[in-house]
Amino acid sequence: MSTAQLIALDLLATLLAAAGWVGAGVAAAARRARVALALLAAAVVVTLVRITTSVALANGGWWFAQDRVVLTGPLLGVAGLAAVLVAGPRLLSAVRTGTPGNSPAAVVPLLVAGYAAAAGLLFPLLVGYPATWSEVFVTVALVGVAGLVTWRVAGSGPPLWTFVPILAMGLVGVGAGFATGADLDAGGGPELRHSAGHGVSVADLRGPTTPAAGGQVRRYEFTARTTTVQVGGRTVEAWGYNGQVPGPPITASQGDLVEVTLHNADIQRGVTLHWHGYDVPAAEDGAPGVTQDAVPPGGEYVYRFRADQVGTYWYHTHQASDVGVKMGLYGTLVVGPPARGVDVTLPVHTFGSDTVVGAAAMPEAAPGTPVRLRLVNTDGVPHRFALTGTAYRLVAVDGTDLNDPGELRDAELRLPAGGRYDLAYTMPAGEVALFVDGQAVLGAGDAPKGWPELDITRYGAPAATPFGPGSRFDRGFTLVLDRGIALVDGVPRYAFTVNGRAFPNVPTQLVREGDLVEMTVANRGLDTHPWHLHGHRVLVLERDGHRASGSPLWLDTFDVQPGEVWRVAFRADNPGAWMNHCHNLAHAAQGMALHLRYDGVTTPFHGGHGG
Ligand code: C2O
Ligand code: CU
Repeated sequence: MSTAQLIALDLLATLLAAAGWVGAGVAAAARRARVALALLAAAVVVTLVRITTSVALANGGWWFAQDRVVLTGPLLGVAGLAAVLVAGPRLLSAVRTGTPGNSPAAVVPLLVAGYAAAAGLLFPLLVGYPATWSEVFVTVALVGVAGLVTWRVAGSGPPLWTFVPILAMGLVGVGAGFATGADLDAGGGPELRHSAGHGVSVADLRGPTTPAAGGQVRRYEFTARTTTVQVGGRTVEAWGYNGQVPGPPITASQGDLVEVTLHNADIQRGVTLHWHGYDVPAAEDGAPGVTQDAVPPGGEYVYRFRADQVGTYWYHTHQASDVGVKMGLYGTLVVGPPARGVDVTLPVHTFGSDTVVGAAAMPEAAPGTPVRLRLVNTDGVPHRFALTGTAYRLVAVDGTDLNDPGELRDAELRLPAGGRYDLAYTMPAGEVALFVDGQAVLGAGDAPKGWPELDITRYGAPAATPFGPGSRFDRGFTLVLDRGIALVDGVPRYAFTVNGRAFPNVPTQLVREGDLVEMTVANRGLDTHPWHLHGHRVLVLERDGHRASGSPLWLDTFDVQPGEVWRVAFRADNPGAWMNHCHNLAHAAQGMALHLRYDGVTTPFHGGHGG
């Protein structure tokens, strides 16, 4: 059973346990001792099931079970045992003697066990990993107060002063919850805080101003402005670079210098340019509040970097990026040499219910012509692609060529938000069609059904990598992704969390230049999280405990689905301060983001959310 299924089963068992215990208490109160006894027995059984699922979850990773093991399991165990010991004999004798069996001693313990089970259901949904002392106190206090109130309502309850210690515990918990905690995570490595005087500002980490020998300068002027676009026969309000959606395609050859001057005409929320997947110098990265201030209407910023990575990339605004990218502030960046034959770039984007791919028709060419399709997912959710009418190869992922990619046919490709796939095939005599999520977006034909999804961690052939699963890492970071109540700008919200905290309260990861860094990302929630680190490509080591066994997989965005655990690694070779976030940009805006900072690098920019 997958971890995601176990999480679902565990929640279901907890729900049934809560219903069973509360039902038994209600039945006892209603003088139905026989029914109460039957429900008690059922509650005991599902409680035991729930204990089993918790243990199984711990097998998938401690993060999935920590709250169950340290808090909600023991709480339910103690309350359930008390209910069996106190209420059980009373209900039994009521059944035997034909008496009502609705004494508080029979009713209250059953209801309290129900409250404890309910806490076990709500805790993973509202709080999640990790269960901290503050949250343990608050939870126990809530169950305790509910129990005391029930007892008093049932009559013959304890005196009012018994509420005092329990309420005090709850208040201590709430107070502790507002403490901000550590703001730095050194990942087990040394915490070398440079004194302020020795720091280098991220604003000074700019790139070369000339192309490499033989390269040329590619100069672009972009003005971000409000505009409208036609999609599916409708006119839609949009924001575009130079009024175009997608923005002007940027193409360059290896060694060229790309220089883009960004102006903002009338985007009130401000705008930047972020080079997604391109490992530019930090000051060119376009992360507002981290590497620059957002460009306000009337302002400008010049971006400059050498095109030394070949492949398919894209750019987008990083200011209010959830809204900005959705509205159209994105475009493609392709660094050549161009492929022989037909070479088209297809940025996939969804406006309302319409998915557009930046081209009107499938490329036409004589049979035998090589074709390369560069798919770019500019949306916040994964898309499923299928190509009909030809066999093909997935030759590059996130800009990096795969080693020895095998021929594919009848396969479904799942492309994470922000990710890129390059497909290559030889033009056949018949028609080729491209499907996105079962809809033909280029060409025509019947939607393929039931095609298996390609597992890219097993595709292609292994090759040497500069480091691997067995390497000695200088630092290791663990990110547990979830939803829960967390402080966002001092206000508790139902946020998307990293290790139980929301941006900007997630501790900044500290690395030193040259470090080999391991990153483990676990998804405890019910949503998919496309994880994206700026400024570096990561090598996939493992997914769910299985080593990546195909071609080396260098990604800038990897899709951590519910219950999944990814282990990736990267070399800290690009000094700066970098965003590290979920590329479902709505999730990032609601807290699922943090910074990765190199020792000695400071940022003069503040207040921005980096995105
Ligand atoms: Cu494409 Cu920080 O994002
Ligand atoms: Cu997410």
